[in-house]
Amino acid sequence: MDAGNAAQRTSFGEQIVSRIDELSAISEGAGKLTRVYLSKELRKAADLILSWMREAGMSAHLDAIGNVCGRYEGEQPGAPCVMLGSHYDTVRDAGKWDGPLGVITAIACVADLNRRGKRLPFAIEVVGFADEEGVRFASTLLGSRAVAGTFDESVLNTRDRDGVSMRDALIAFGLDPDHIGAAARTRRELLAYLELHIEQGPVLEAQNLPVGVVTAIAGATRLAARLTGMAGHAGTVPMALRHDALTGAAECIGAIEAFCRADANGLVGTVGYIHATPGATNVIPGEVSFTIDMRAPTDMHRKRAVAEIVRQIEAIAGRRQLMLQLDVTHENRTAPCATWLKDQFAQAIAAEGFAAFELPSGAGHDGMAMIDIADVGMIFVRCRGGVSHHPDEHVELADADAGARVLLRVVENFRPR
Ligand code: GLV
Ligand code: MN
Ligand code: MN
Ligand code: MN
Repeated sequence: MDAGNAAQRTSFGEQIVSRIDELSAISEGAGKLTRVYLSKELRKAADLILSWMREAGMSAHLDAIGNVCGRYEGEQPGAPCVMLGSHYDTVRDAGKWDGPLGVITAIACVADLNRRGKRLPFAIEVVGFADEEGVRFASTLLGSRAVAGTFDESVLNTRDRDGVSMRDALIAFGLDPDHIGAAARTRRELLAYLELHIEQGPVLEAQNLPVGVVTAIAGATRLAARLTGMAGHAGTVPMALRHDALTGAAECIGAIEAFCRADANGLVGTVGYIHATPGATNVIPGEVSFTIDMRAPTDMHRKRAVAEIVRQIEAIAGRRQLMLQLDVTHENRTAPCATWLKDQFAQAIAAEGFAAFELPSGAGHDGMAMIDIADVGMIFVRCRGGVSHHPDEHVELADADAGARVLLRVVENFRPR
């Protein structure tokens, strides 16, 4: 590596880390990072990312669902693009790397080409998806589904925890809920969809490698459950005569955990949200809502597991004489990464002097939606301790830098299928 290249290597990592910090300061609460879909903070973050895109030589705009979109023309204006993307929304009390790393790194790659005055035989587009996490409304991947043309309009009528519908939230954000279709792109416009993301697991760290090639993104099913019993006086109703919705929910949650723990093939189940009403110390809970997130390495395995969980919850509700409403709010198939793109990532990783290690993704990513209109390729960057969806999420500067170098190499040497 000559001195010029060495200097450039350092500058990638430093700029990425500094922008990750700058973006993470835009949050709904002080001292924590939370930036959910269509919040005021998301809008502020969008403006900052749009300014970075323009500074990198791209034309940039906010699309009809709130994604930030930048375009760097190729040698011929209007050519199909290689799309580089990830998301800029976060979970509640999030780490700062999940999502933004892919967006910021992609912009850094384009800025580097622009600085060198280099145009490629295709355009490059960078997209920061506005909702990948799906923590606010009943569904997830809302940004990438709109781009893939698979946005489900029924989500517009779902409400967040404060009772605000997605329709009203879009209007407050400055968008038109009746024109989300304008965000859709077509297969003809895209040569590939490529995403760089932190691993969110401990495998690369155990391999002592900064980056890895993703083989597939595991599918997921999300469900919303509501158990209704009978609220009552905590002092007067004997235990045997109660229809306590919360003890019913507790039994369901225990059953989900036991079932997933007993599975030796990678099944995972999570109840991450629960709400009991009326919610008072001296009142038997009359109604409880909770969410279920189920994932497994194969679609067949996950579907069978979901069917069994549903059967068990129905049995618990029936035995306890609780009314049950159980809906699948979100279902995503496993998304395999395209072999020809895995090969191009592997070659770039090898050219940077690392072993091209392959690993699957247990976490969901925007590629799950984008696969409907493009072949998908993904690269993971090592994160400390495999910690993610947590404020301690951390990526070393040198690893962020290695990820950027690999992504830039893939883009510059990109060979369409
Ligand atoms: C997104 O981070 C998911 O995997 O749920
Ligand atoms: Mn993510
Ligand atoms: Mn996430
Ligand atoms: Mn009383």
